[in-house]
Amino acid sequence: MSPLPVSGDAGGAKADIQKIWSSVPHVTWVGELSGSPEPYSITVNGDSVISEKLVINNYDDSIHIRIPLHYGKSNLIVIKDGNSVIYRTDFFFAFSFEGILVPEEYMITPFHSERNESPCRTCHRMDVEMADMMPARPTDSLCYSCHNGEFPELLNQHREAGVSWECLRCHKAEPMETDFSLDGPVKYAMAEGARVAPLCYRCHINKEKEHSEFKYVHGPVAMQGCNMCHNPHGSNNKRLLQKEISTLCVECHRLQEMVEKPHLHAPLVKSGCTACHDPHGSNSPFFLPSDIIGTCFSCHPNIREKGKNHPITGHPVYAEQDPLVEDREFTCVSCHNPHSSEHDRLLAEEELMMLCVRCHPRFK
Ligand code: HEC
Ligand code: HEC
Ligand code: HEC
Ligand code: HEC
Ligand code: HEC
Ligand code: HEC
Ligand code: HEC
Ligand code: HEC
Ligand code: HEC
Ligand code: HEC
Repeated sequence: MSPLPVSGDAGGAKADIQKIWSSVPHVTWVGELSGSPEPYSITVNGDSVISEKLVINNYDDSIHIRIPLHYGKSNLIVIKDGNSVIYRTDFFFAFSFEGILVPEEYMITPFHSERNESPCRTCHRMDVEMADMMPARPTDSLCYSCHNGEFPELLNQHREAGVSWECLRCHKAEPMETDFSLDGPVKYAMAEGARVAPLCYRCHINKEKEHSEFKYVHGPVAMQGCNMCHNPHGSNNKRLLQKEISTLCVECHRLQEMVEKPHLHAPLVKSGCTACHDPHGSNSPFFLPSDIIGTCFSCHPNIREKGKNHPITGHPVYAEQDPLVEDREFTCVSCHNPHSSEHDRLLAEEELMMLCVRCHPRFK
């Protein structure tokens, strides 16, 4: 039986080691069973993989081994009887929308092609039937026997995925050509390729309307990459987020420094970035609920009441022009960092006078 996800002779001794870009965080290796897994030795990046970490199942004359891939490069070798290399591949695991990060020599090779599926047919049902569109029970789904292990007890499930197993609402049953360079059509691909928004909008109709009316649209939403932030299947984070909100924003924007400063603005700690920014977009710059001053006033009405008396009697808190930054209005963020600071009161300077002379050099 051919190992996965390549078919034909894996030819361990051959010079060309396949380089596969996997968008699935694991690979299932299926081989002939010779009694027990003992004759097999699996190494990932040179380290022997301890068998308890793997899902190893024996079915009749077939051994199924699920091997987890870590992010980026993994080198996988399966050796039988101590010396014969029966499978050898370099993997690069990255999500499909991260193609730009994947070295060019790695090729995406989806499993669900006619050729790869053929050795499985002896035991698995592989052809979609009408009932698979809306299975009465999860176990009735064609996908269940192989993919059950990937939808474990996630805290928050997207109903059509791991709950009702209506996988074919999103994955196309008919083989189709995809964005990826491949020999032939594949099944279960996304009709929309990496731009999944139209798929999501099919059911989230109100979101499509909302997003199309925003004056300012957040980059990944404009790229139609809903899955950059949401896991379409389910998640342990709320709102099916790929990562917990603050980590999600900070990592993509490389803003680690922002959250490591000694003084953090309370809402950032308490509610995260979305206390002020709409993750999808809004009608104000930076996806704030209103303009900057309005955003700050909404939680600091006392400053509004002070009128022109903050931080000192007679001082305005907004004006046409910021003396420090050309083409920027003078607002609260001219003196305060809305996120964090090295200094008390989220100020740019520790010394009050030093702050004043930034904008009023004649005070010197
Ligand atoms: C000799 C019979 C047989 C063959 C051939 C076979 N499988 Fe399986 N496979 C099974 C059985 C039985 C199960 C358990 C199904 C269940 O629990 O409902 C299974 C389960 C799986 C699972 C779930 C994870 C696991 O390891 O239990 C995956 C993934 C899988 N098979 C992939 C494949 C692929 C891919 C092929 C073709 C290359 C294949 N199988 C060929 C019998 C087989
Ligand atoms: C015989 C087992 C088997 C069955 C049945 C099966 N899959 Fe898969 N699927 C796999 C394997 C194996 C992979 C590759 C990942 C891996 O190696 O674990 C995969 C990968 C995928 C991928 C990623 C793209 C690709 O082609 O590699 C999608 C999407 C997918 N399956 C959807 C489905 C859906 C939807 C169904 C049901 C309609 C289904 N699969 C039924 C075994 C199976
Ligand atoms: C709400 C839509 C939706 C539903 C329902 C859904 N998927 Fe997916 N699935 C996606 C999207 C979007 C991707 C990512 C594709 C991409 O980035 O190219 C994906 C990716 C996958 C992958 C490959 C990557 C990964 O995350 O492991 C597998 C395997 C898969 N789906 C299996 C299934 C199975 C099995 C079901 C049913 C239990 C299912 N999906 C239900 C939308 C869905
Ligand atoms: C087949 C219809 C369908 C499709 C397609 C679909 N969704 Fe959903 N989605 C739902 C339903 C129904 C709910 C609410 C029920 C549930 O699953 O909890 C939901 C819930 C959600 C939630 C959680 C909302 C909350 O208040 O916690 C998010 C986030 C979400 N979907 C994002 C997406 C994304 C992103 C896509 C595209 C990859 C997508 N959905 C595609 C039907 C769909
Ligand atoms: C930059 C990351 C990001 C992208 C991209 C993104 N979302 Fe969201 N989405 C979030 C966050 C964060 C929340 C939670 C907001 C909250 O709880 O305040 C959310 C919430 C949601 C919700 C449920 C709550 C609500 O606002 O009604 C749905 C549905 C949803 N998103 C759908 C989508 C769809 C559809 C797309 C693609 C067009 C998309 N999202 C793209 C980050 C994102
Ligand atoms: C997948 C990567 C990604 C994630 C996750 C992400 N962003 Fe963005 N964000 C972008 C891109 C791309 C842009 C547009 C390019 C730019 O202006 O920097 C952008 C722009 C912005 C801007 C406007 C910047 C400007 O100078 O106009 C803000 C504010 C912002 N994001 C906040 C957030 C917040 C808050 C979150 C978490 C909910 C988040 N981002 C998550 C990629 C991301
Ligand atoms: C209290 C409200 C508030 C919170 C909470 C908040 N921001 Fe902001 N953010 C703003 C304001 C106001 C601006 C505009 C600043 C300016 O004009 O200099 C901004 C600007 C930005 C920008 C674009 C300009 C820049 O500084 O790079 C990014 C990116 C950004 N925020 C990310 C985040 C992230 C990530 C978080 C969570 C860790 C977060 N914000 C939490 C109010 C907030
Ligand atoms: C979602 C509510 C919320 C928004 C919006 C908000 N703040 Fe705050 N802010 C707070 C809370 C809560 C505190 C801590 C309690 C307090 O001192 O009032 C705080 C504290 C502060 C402090 C004092 C910090 C310290 O170390 O004593 C400053 C300065 C500040 N905010 C400035 C701003 C600015 C500037 C904006 C607009 C960019 C803004 N805030 C928007 C809720 C908010
Ligand atoms: C000209 C610079 C400047 C501007 C503009 C400014 N602040 Fe301040 N702010 C300060 C200084 C200086 C302090 C520290 C005063 C002290 O510790 O006595 C302060 C303190 C604060 C505090 C904490 C103490 C208190 O009074 O509650 C908050 C909250 C605050 N500012 C919010 C805002 C908001 C909201 C805006 C915009 C509407 C704003 N600031 C505009 C300089 C400024
Ligand atoms: C980020 C820039 C900025 C900082 C920092 C700043 N100011 Fe101002 N200040 C302004 C602007 C803008 C105005 C209104 C336009 C003008 O009169 O120049 C103003 C006006 C004034 C005025 C004149 C008020 C009036 O009635 O006309 C005084 C006095 C003043 N600031 C003192 C201070 C003092 C004291 C500090 C330090 C606590 C300070 N400023 C910090 C920008 C700043």
